[in-house]
Amino acid sequence: MNEYFNIAFLTSGKSRGSNFDSVVKYISKNRLPISTKFLIITRPDAPIIQRAENNNVKWILLSDKNNFEHDLLELLSQHNVHLVVLAGFMRKLSPNFLDKFKGKIINIHPALLPKYGGKGMYGMRVHQAVFENHEKFSGASVHFVNEEYDAGKIIFQKKIPIDHLKSPEEIAHEVLKIEHEIYPKVIEQLAYQFFSKLVYPVESEAIPSG
Ligand code: GAR
Repeated sequence: MNEYFNIAFLTSGKSRGSNFDSVVKYISKNRLPISTKFLIITRPDAPIIQRAENNNVKWILLSDKNNFEHDLLELLSQHNVHLVVLAGFMRKLSPNFLDKFKGKIINIHPALLPKYGGKGMYGMRVHQAVFENHEKFSGASVHFVNEEYDAGKIIFQKKIPIDHLKSPEEIAHEVLKIEHEIYPKVIEQLAYQFFSKLVYPVESEAIPSG
């Protein structure tokens, strides 16, 4: 089957891009039938650009906030994108956009959702709150994206002990390792699900009895 599972990444602001990098490298190392069509950035000075160039991924700047979703939808349809991967994308997507890409947008969050998610909970703020609350565990969650921040259905989580760690920075460091481990694997699983649906489009009628 000469078919690829097409993905596109969305980032915003001065995104660092370490999750993007880990996913793209995993795909290439394991020769997965996944094609990274493009990476969206919202600022021309985002450090993630360098990572995109190092990995030969086309990056596209969509800096006009007013037409962002309109332009994005056009690109997604032009490139026949099957999955949108948020990687350091901190904006909310509109219900209209989400409706058009229902169940096809995923995000990674640096905590064990539903705890430590929601508006204003991103990056170091999450680890700061986890540290201040003396949590014994933290981790990372991959989830589908819906209208609320970090509130869509959870696809996968990994939990790690953190009670021996001495600062929010140390927690961030350990959690990021987990993010880099689980995000590529979830995307790989979603690709396999996509291919299995191509082969067995109607599961219940796959094998007639008798
Ligand atoms: C990651 O830690 C990701 O979990 C977090 O932003 C960081 C992006 O880093 N996302 C959120 O907090 C979403 N609410 P990266 O650009 O190096 O992948």
